[in-house]
Amino acid sequence: MELDDVNTIAVLGAGNMGHGIAEVAALSGYEVNIRDIKEEFVQNGYEQIEWSLNKLEEKEQIGEGEADATLDRVTPLVDVGEAVGDADVVIEAVPEKMDIKKDVYQEVEEHAPDEAIFATNTSSLSITELSEVTERSGQFCGMHFFNPPVRMQLVEVISGAHSDEETLDVIEGLAEEFGKTPVRVHKDSPGFIVNRILVPLMNEACWLVHEGEATIAEVDSTTKYDIGLPMGSFELGDQVGNDVSYHVLEYMHEELGDAYEPCPLLAEKVENDELGKKTGKGFYDYEDGDGADVP
Ligand code: 3HC
Repeated sequence: MELDDVNTIAVLGAGNMGHGIAEVAALSGYEVNIRDIKEEFVQNGYEQIEWSLNKLEEKEQIGEGEADATLDRVTPLVDVGEAVGDADVVIEAVPEKMDIKKDVYQEVEEHAPDEAIFATNTSSLSITELSEVTERSGQFCGMHFFNPPVRMQLVEVISGAHSDEETLDVIEGLAEEFGKTPVRVHKDSPGFIVNRILVPLMNEACWLVHEGEATIAEVDSTTKYDIGLPMGSFELGDQVGNDVSYHVLEYMHEELGDAYEPCPLLAEKVENDELGKKTGKGFYDYEDGDGADVP
């Protein structure tokens, strides 16, 4: 498969990352099938794409009429066969759990064309292990976007132990077609590069608050105004989703040891479904769950 052969992209999972990736792909002119397991999930993802495209058009970041034209290239689906049957590239962005992702790949393998490339947006899990549940471990790699995909420049392109060069080249080229900057990650280790650094930072911020050393406001004002990061640690946690950070840490804890033990404060947020912007409440409260109101 060459980059020029890519016309249709299937995005599996219509959550925060899935709908953002689908939007980016459609903005670049690709036909996009976005799929989730329930009609309400896929509909919600589709509406988030519409909201975001309208916002971009209002701000003249895209041309007049481009929001509708882009949306026309997005097909929301529940049937997995329909979603991947004509796909050249399948980008998977389902929940960050090894078992869930493996089940998805087994199902997708039955329906996707033999030449289709599988790219996982996993935040931390082993690309090699995921690829081994398919019959195409050479045509399999990581394509890790950052939240919100429409705004973040970086894409990590991660090589699993079996990924072939041709596949990595196509996915790197695709990231460039999306207007992103791909960075090749040669080692398939937990959290890859960015999350190996960023997620422990967010976890450490939780430990500071959990142990009564600082308040959320103090931590966030120092990260934002002193270190110079664009968001405070807790704002960022709410942006990426507290469940995502928690699952990444659980995996890193299992694979890399106690330094990555998830803080109970984070676990509590997940138990209470206070996942951040997407549920309207996380470390901060949001007026509505659409991600528009950063405190
Ligand atoms: N589409 C369109 N517009 C959007 C949007 C979207 N998806 N998301 C937010 N906006 C809008 C907001 O509604 C707001 O609109 P308003 O001005 O009308 O109220 C506006 O964008 C805010 O944009 P600004 O440029 O004014 O705001 P910032 O300069 O603060 O930039 C940001 C926002 C780019 C998100 C910036 O805060 C940032 O870079 N934050 C860090 C994000 C980050 O690090 N992400 C990576 C996390 S790690 C990860 O994702 C990996 C995973 O595996 C865990």
